[in-house]
Amino acid sequence: MKNKEEIIKSSNYIILNPYDFYGKWDCVFKNDNPINIEIGMGKGDFIIGMAKQNPNINYVGIEMYDSVIVRAVQKLENEDIKNLRLIRMDAKEVEKVFNKEVDTIYLNFSDPWPKKRHSKRRLTSHEFLLKYDKIFKGEKKIFQKTDNIDLFSFSIESLSTYGYMLKNVTMDLYNNMIVGNIATEYEKRFNKQGVKICRLEAYKD
Ligand SMILES: C[S@@+](CC[C@H](N)C(=O)[O-])C[C@H]1O[C@@H](n2cnc3c(N)ncnc32)[C@H](O)[C@@H]1O
Repeated sequence: MKNKEEIIKSSNYIILNPYDFYGKWDCVFKNDNPINIEIGMGKGDFIIGMAKQNPNINYVGIEMYDSVIVRAVQKLENEDIKNLRLIRMDAKEVEKVFNKEVDTIYLNFSDPWPKKRHSKRRLTSHEFLLKYDKIFKGEKKIFQKTDNIDLFSFSIESLSTYGYMLKNVTMDLYNNMIVGNIATEYEKRFNKQGVKICRLEAYKD
């Protein structure tokens, strides 16, 4: 029986040396299709579903914990999805991995970091938005889903004061459903419990 590390190392989906592909992600996918990333992808249901739904878009899922990413890798064992790769790393390094190559960033049910002194760790803080500026190719697009109203309010303020235009903002996604929505693991659980899901799209030239 393989351990976590062996499962991760032997997967064709995992990019073990992501820094080597800085500015060269077209070589990974062997095409120039847009690259969309999910930061904090968890066990992968969203990114796997998106990659299957949109074969002409490349997807990269980022997750920092072995114990979590390994679950995504296991789901992919009998799949052959050419437009999907996964990276095990802390997103605070994201600008060392992509050089103006990313089309859209997905942030799904990100850790809320409720304490004020930890606010810089929130994935929609200005600290992270500065990093994202360096990885976007053209128009900047950030799509967020969360159950956490405080994180959602923080994101609305942080993104708009940074210059993003917000569109399609809802605090009840399941009563304002978007076409082709792919649910994440957390989303499925919250929705079953009757918890409302917030969603926004943020755009900046
Ligand atoms: C609450 S879970 C949500 C998982 C998944 N997106 C979902 O909706 O089901 C947040 C995930 O983000 C990961 N994460 C948090 N901060 C991260 C960071 N700085 N870099 C990479 N992954 C991160 C955590 O390890 C965790 O798996």
